[in-house]
Amino acid sequence: MSQTYAEAYADWQQHPHAWWEQAAEALEWSKKWDRAFDPSLGAFGQWFAGGEISICHNALDRHVAEGRGDKTALIWDSPVTNSKQQFTYNELTDSTARMAGALAARGIGKGDRVVIYMPMVPEAAMAMLACARIGAIHSVVFGGFAAPELAKRIEDARPRAVISASCGIEPGRVVAYKPMLDEAIHLSAHKPEFTFILQRPNLAADLIADRDFDLLSEMANATPAACVPVKATDPLYILYTSGTTGKPKGVVRDCGGYAVALHNTMSMIYGIKQDDVEWCASDVGWVVGHSYIVYGPLLLGCTTVMYEGKPVGTPDAGAFWRMIAEYKVKALFTAPTAMRAIRQVDPELTMLDGHDISHFDTLFLAGERCDPPTAIWAHDKLNRPVIDHWWQTETGWAITANFRRYGLFETKPGSGGRPCTGYDLQVLDDNGNILPRGESGNLAIRLPMPPGCAPTLWGSDDNYRRSYISDFPGWYRTGDAGQIDADGDVWIMGRTDDIINVAGHRLSTGQMEEILTGHKDVAECAVIGAADSLKGQTPIGFVVLKSGVNRPHEEIRKELVSRVREVLGPVAAFKEALIVPRLPKTRSGKILRASIRRLADGQDANPPPTIDDLAALDDISSALAKAG
Ligand code: COA
Ligand code: AMP
Repeated sequence: MSQTYAEAYADWQQHPHAWWEQAAEALEWSKKWDRAFDPSLGAFGQWFAGGEISICHNALDRHVAEGRGDKTALIWDSPVTNSKQQFTYNELTDSTARMAGALAARGIGKGDRVVIYMPMVPEAAMAMLACARIGAIHSVVFGGFAAPELAKRIEDARPRAVISASCGIEPGRVVAYKPMLDEAIHLSAHKPEFTFILQRPNLAADLIADRDFDLLSEMANATPAACVPVKATDPLYILYTSGTTGKPKGVVRDCGGYAVALHNTMSMIYGIKQDDVEWCASDVGWVVGHSYIVYGPLLLGCTTVMYEGKPVGTPDAGAFWRMIAEYKVKALFTAPTAMRAIRQVDPELTMLDGHDISHFDTLFLAGERCDPPTAIWAHDKLNRPVIDHWWQTETGWAITANFRRYGLFETKPGSGGRPCTGYDLQVLDDNGNILPRGESGNLAIRLPMPPGCAPTLWGSDDNYRRSYISDFPGWYRTGDAGQIDADGDVWIMGRTDDIINVAGHRLSTGQMEEILTGHKDVAECAVIGAADSLKGQTPIGFVVLKSGVNRPHEEIRKELVSRVREVLGPVAAFKEALIVPRLPKTRSGKILRASIRRLADGQDANPPPTIDDLAALDDISSALAKAG
């Protein structure tokens, strides 16, 4: 270890451009950048302007050229289909080049968008890399979203092609993807020109002539395509995430900065070297999956693991330990909810017995704050450091963490660690003044954001500025509240907007309210995220019916629950809609969501003085008591 964390952070503060330029030297550039950072580009500036790079070349072909072709690049393990498969760098490069060739043969090229709607299969990673190979921009949509959500993304990204699969497998059910894709294309005003469909043995999809093509046949018949370098500042992907309304935000990631940031974090945060195996037990539909199932580990040239299964029930709570032992995993990255799921089933971790996890070094958690009891339990039972690190779709990599490269500082359960190099993180009051250590407020990052962070939102720099910069000019508003303690450790306390986190999935309560209000019998409603011992938070809707509606409440409740599932998707885990006579409001008519949430969490409502109708809170309490 040559530097401590404090030294590295100070080094970056003194030479913010040179620090990143040095990190960029580890990659192969088709053309070196003219300026490390150009403040005139994007919503706040862009990194490595003038440079040209192929992220696919750096993730695949470079390793082949440097003699690592026979090394395992990707391990796929799918307990839900009882299948396992491994791909060397040679094989992954070949398959990716074929898929890229098939896309190119149908006219896809630089700047074209391709939506990827796939379960956790190796072809999903190949599809992302294939787009990158020919300079197309991918937009992966998580399989747990319903057709209308997929349609919104198709309409906004305007893809020329969609790559999908016949089905995904959830425990106990086969999820037919193709009918959902058909429905989404039907709903969307924009129509993609063609689709490639991976036919899985579990369920065959009906293909529409001249629009849908069998992915594997297309790949088999394709001429492999070479890597096309693009500008470092060109978009690599768009990833939609929940905003505060029903319209998702298209977070744009550029190529050069992202490649540099991810490559650097593989050793800086995760302590991974080329001969190691890294496993990120997330989904390619989320940012974590983009960064640490696909791009990060492959850019480094190590082995990445892709898992189509759950922490429990596929087949049991020992699945993670079996995987770690079988593949000699050095670092596991998952969401705290996965650890809570294992802990609920196997509190003594008896299912670890018989698994040799001697290669396992560190457990990394993100997606939501890890509650201290879970962090302490995992640490004690696994006898390994447990590192909670905080990030967002927008940043693409961690804002705060602990650092294997610099030697770990003492981790405090419940804290997200300290700011990564590149982030000047401060706590601001509502007027944008920096608050002293120990005081809570808005967590904000001084501009510019480091490489890898979204330079803009799809189609609109202004929308980015409005969403993140205009509240505190000169700063990026993270939307999270928190504080920084005297040691510099950051404590994330939750969102300052209406976003909730359900099993590590970011969801908007505002969007659920829009869906509920769309029901013919609903006058108004409030959705809050109530504390949940497994998922962290779970949404509960409180609904006021229009006057004169006298249908059985049970019937309406069921319709509301199905409506959220059909419009947003099963991922919302929306299971409870409680019908109440009125909602508690301030004198100015603002619904008291915070008070409702406190009641749902079994606390005092603590209503503000601006409420006239205290009885409305009693109505909420009675509805909660009745629902148990
Ligand atoms: N395709 C279709 N449906 C999906 C899906 C997908 N890719 N992913 C989830 N769903 C469905 C589930 O089947 C479930 O449906 P159900 O209501 O019919 O049971 C629903 O969406 C909610 O899923 P989930 O939140 O995953 O809950 P769960 O009860 O199935 O599992 C955990 C709970 C804790 C085991 C699971 O949430 C988990 O493993 N979480 C880790 C999350 C993670 O990796 N997050 C990434 C950020 S780091
Ligand atoms: P997403 O964009 O889906 O990654 O969700 C980002 C949001 O999840 C953040 O703004 C936080 O609210 C929350 N989050 C993610 N990781 C953490 C963490 N380690 N600690 C606390 N909150 C987190």
